[in-house]
Amino acid sequence: MSAEPLPTRTGLAFPPGFVWGAATAAFQVEGATTVDGREPSVWDAFAARPGAVAGGDTGEPAADHYRRAAEDVALMRSLGLGAYRFSLAWPRIQPGGLPNVRGIAFYDRLVDSLLAAGIQPWATLYHWDLPQRLEDLGGWPVRDTAYRFAEYAETIVGVLGDRVASWSTLNEPWCAAMLGYGKGIHAPGRTDPAAAAAAAHHLLLGHGLAMDVLRRDAPRAPAGITLNLYPVTPASDTPADVDAARRIDGQQNRLFLDPVLRGGYPTDVVADLAPFGFADVVLPGDEDVIAAPVDWLGVNYYRGYRVAGSPTPGSSPAGAEWIGADAVHFVPDPAAPRTDSGWEVQPAGLTASLLQVHRGYRPVPLYVTENGAAYPDVLRAGEIADTDRVAFLDAHLRAAHDAVTHGVDLRGYFYWSLLDNFEWAEGYAKRFGLVHVDYATQQRTPKRSAHWYSEVIARNALP
Ligand code: FCB
Repeated sequence: MSAEPLPTRTGLAFPPGFVWGAATAAFQVEGATTVDGREPSVWDAFAARPGAVAGGDTGEPAADHYRRAAEDVALMRSLGLGAYRFSLAWPRIQPGGLPNVRGIAFYDRLVDSLLAAGIQPWATLYHWDLPQRLEDLGGWPVRDTAYRFAEYAETIVGVLGDRVASWSTLNEPWCAAMLGYGKGIHAPGRTDPAAAAAAAHHLLLGHGLAMDVLRRDAPRAPAGITLNLYPVTPASDTPADVDAARRIDGQQNRLFLDPVLRGGYPTDVVADLAPFGFADVVLPGDEDVIAAPVDWLGVNYYRGYRVAGSPTPGSSPAGAEWIGADAVHFVPDPAAPRTDSGWEVQPAGLTASLLQVHRGYRPVPLYVTENGAAYPDVLRAGEIADTDRVAFLDAHLRAAHDAVTHGVDLRGYFYWSLLDNFEWAEGYAKRFGLVHVDYATQQRTPKRSAHWYSEVIARNALP
């Protein structure tokens, strides 16, 4: 490394100290699901159900990260990553509700090896792998699960403590609640709107309780929560379309942002969810617990939504992940390019989501904790020329930069994902990695996007 700062060619430099990272989640990369005392999670049980996951894929072998973590840290170092966002597996750390020395030791070593490599460890306590044992007792729709989550946090936060550069309580509680208990396309695969609404509240309650544990046991480490935000726009300015946008924005964004950053649930969303028993599960004092001040907010961004209050040409009706949204229709943009997941590529939506938080809530440092795309990568002569992913990254980093120029206090960006991995209900078919994984040999091959991203990191600027 030369001591001279690399020149920036376009002047599109990011603020000094900007954190450049990549993200993964335990169940998606670790494999080793029956090793060292780990107990089954809802995702093990869900993946075992015929037809639940594409191709019948399961958490094995994933990217075998549990066994290859040292190699993967060396890889991160070679790419120049400043931070690694990973999640801690509750079923490894506290199987049967008791601390598991071997499971804990894995994360202990991971954190130390990251620190030794000069990479900030960013740990998320919960990225959807609820112990199946707790689902059998009712799962997130049951209030008790929030307290079990806080006990799990107590088991691990003190051990890793301030060696973790930044703690997150939850990843995307909207998905855990609405896709897991409403639509049923994620574990545990239930289809009950009332259960989904209750799960959303209990996840947030668990967040608030875990914040207390983090303050006590890791007092010097910043702590926050990671939400998946989607800018929602009405297809027209008719009252029906505007109300559809209000409802979807309410359930996707404000149901989570408001209690965390404003101290209480938005009244219109509470009214929308009232027929599904939401108000009954929110007990006096809960909103104060959830409002525990966070040091930062993580924004996961993939795309936005255009919605209408009645069918329009090409639109599709809201699915069961949207509660009480029978009239709502999602309106596609036929001109937008799509990723391999079928998601429209909408970089400007990233700026819009960051601005929604910046303009609507108390000042809080923001991080893009996930953003990325699946593309049908082809390994040819040992190389993956994923120019589509490079273009995606470039466009979204420009959008992130745009937010900074509008005054957003954006402090970092994490690409999803470091490695190709188990993409939930889509199994291994969708590849999001900067690094290609051959699941038969576990060979890692950095894609062109990884080299491109390395250059951005080294310059702290876009090329
Ligand atoms: C997010 C999840 C992450 C990954 C990406 C593609 O919703 O947090 O685990 O699956 O989508």
